[in-house]
Amino acid sequence: MGPGVEGVGPGVGTDPGVGPGMGTDPGVDDRRPAAREARPWWRDAVLYQVYPRSFADGNGDGAGDLAGLRARLPYLAGLGVDGLWISPWYVSPLADGGYDVADYRDIDPLFGTLDEAGRLIGEAHALGLRIIVDLVPNHCSEQHPWFRAALAAGPGSPERARFHFRPGRGPDGRLPPGDWQSHFGGPAWSRIDEADGRPGEWYLHLFAPEQPDWNWDNPEVRAEFESVLRFWLDRGVDGFRIDVTDHLVKESGLPDSAGHHGRPDPWRDQEGVHQVYREWRQVVDSYPGDRTFVAELWENHPERFCRYLRPDELHTAFNFALLRAPWDAAGFRRVIEDTLAAHSPVGAPPVWVLSNHDTTRTVTRYGRADSGYGFDRERRHGLPVDLALGTRRARAAALLTLALPGGAYLYQGEELGLWEVEDIPDRLRQDPVWLRTNGVDRGRDGCRVPLPWSGDRPPFGFGPDGARPWLDVQPDAWREFSVAAQLGAPGSLLELYRAALRLRGAHPGLGDGPMCWLPSEPQVLDFTRPGGFRCLVNFGPRPVPLPSPPDVLLVSGGLVQTAEGTALPADTAVWLRHTLSTA
Ligand code: GLC
Repeated sequence: MGPGVEGVGPGVGTDPGVGPGMGTDPGVDDRRPAAREARPWWRDAVLYQVYPRSFADGNGDGAGDLAGLRARLPYLAGLGVDGLWISPWYVSPLADGGYDVADYRDIDPLFGTLDEAGRLIGEAHALGLRIIVDLVPNHCSEQHPWFRAALAAGPGSPERARFHFRPGRGPDGRLPPGDWQSHFGGPAWSRIDEADGRPGEWYLHLFAPEQPDWNWDNPEVRAEFESVLRFWLDRGVDGFRIDVTDHLVKESGLPDSAGHHGRPDPWRDQEGVHQVYREWRQVVDSYPGDRTFVAELWENHPERFCRYLRPDELHTAFNFALLRAPWDAAGFRRVIEDTLAAHSPVGAPPVWVLSNHDTTRTVTRYGRADSGYGFDRERRHGLPVDLALGTRRARAAALLTLALPGGAYLYQGEELGLWEVEDIPDRLRQDPVWLRTNGVDRGRDGCRVPLPWSGDRPPFGFGPDGARPWLDVQPDAWREFSVAAQLGAPGSLLELYRAALRLRGAHPGLGDGPMCWLPSEPQVLDFTRPGGFRCLVNFGPRPVPLPSPPDVLLVSGGLVQTAEGTALPADTAVWLRHTLSTA
């Protein structure tokens, strides 16, 4: 159990979410508004990220699978999302939770079969849910047949030319060919033994040694990925999430990072990568329907970020600037303004995201004194967390992001208010980050704990009773956070999300389109969207007055009464019906 957990169960505390007018706006038509019908679905979509291993276990082996996911599709349709992004489900030794792919055209037996994936896509579509699959093009698994063939074929072979193999430096080639570091710790080069058993060449892996980087200068690699795209498009997927989008193409000659004062870094964001995406765009555009790409892009510079979103490249990219921002009105406002300004010239909608399978759970992050996110889990892990505070802010952040222009992604369990599980026994940790840093960085397992669905005891309906989840660390307190405990419970976070998604889906001014800031105190964000919609978020400690009487559509916590009338308390967001007289 995390610190400070008492008192944050659904319905406990300040009556969250049951402010006046909560529920569907009676004045708003519940169908998809006409303006939205006229534009591609991905410009407004809210997608739900499924991390398959931790979502729902259908066959009782302790790992989430496609059977579990298929059974829960009605839950996701009822939540009100437009579709799913499914983290890798391909054949994989799971050295990095499936981001080490051994066969891009088949499903890992742990999760199910290719036939089942086809059925899942059909069932999702029948429920009105789109399916985005995860494409991992920077690297594969060391078990991929092409990498096995490269090891067998020897130096200088065409098989090795599909990867980055180099002789080592120094006496006997004992030193790595370059100074690049792996994102998971340690050098980005590993040495192999050649067929005769002697130490041989080195190969590049920007992540774990089990994840060799593809050589994107090799035409065979390009052709192979185009064929993989078509394979899944032919099976009806609506798009792809692209893993580490900016890493594929490296600077020619793989120059050392030390002393490389050029921009960009030699291992990412090279000009040549844009040509790859131009070609991919033509492939998806040749298919019927609005198929789409969403890029994983940890690029801080807004203009460099948006170069990937030019009209002939990718459609959208996760906005991690908001995910990284500490809970602070000025900082949030800056991120929102910079994001909108950078997206505007390329005409792409922003896509907001508060968490994912790589980052600290939102309620934990917002419950810390330092509520920003950085790749420095080792510094933050175990710092005091006020989960009640984190939950209030997460509720407010949910309403904020769903009110902003563009689309949004929601990571499984975020709708339940799950927190990061930090007290995982070391022997259970599986993330390569943990292993590669010798435990200095405690890794990402804490946000990947199997979901609680129902019942009073672990595994909380994640799988059949008695089936121990692969990561068997669900906190007992999650009994109050399960789907069954929150569904229909007034004030639960799940019901807040359901109400927000229902309103958003029906409101003509939400999703893609303009927003307009209203003058406000520095601690407050206050903006309107077309069609009579206003969102206020109070980041500061003092309640802020609302128009009298406020015409509330939805509120993330309880409103308070002050001498001046109804007010919005600290760490709370409200959606109002807006008329010009209240501007
Ligand atoms: C992305 C994924 C992450 C994975 C890494 C290497 O950042 O989101 O989970 O470990 O790429 O594929």
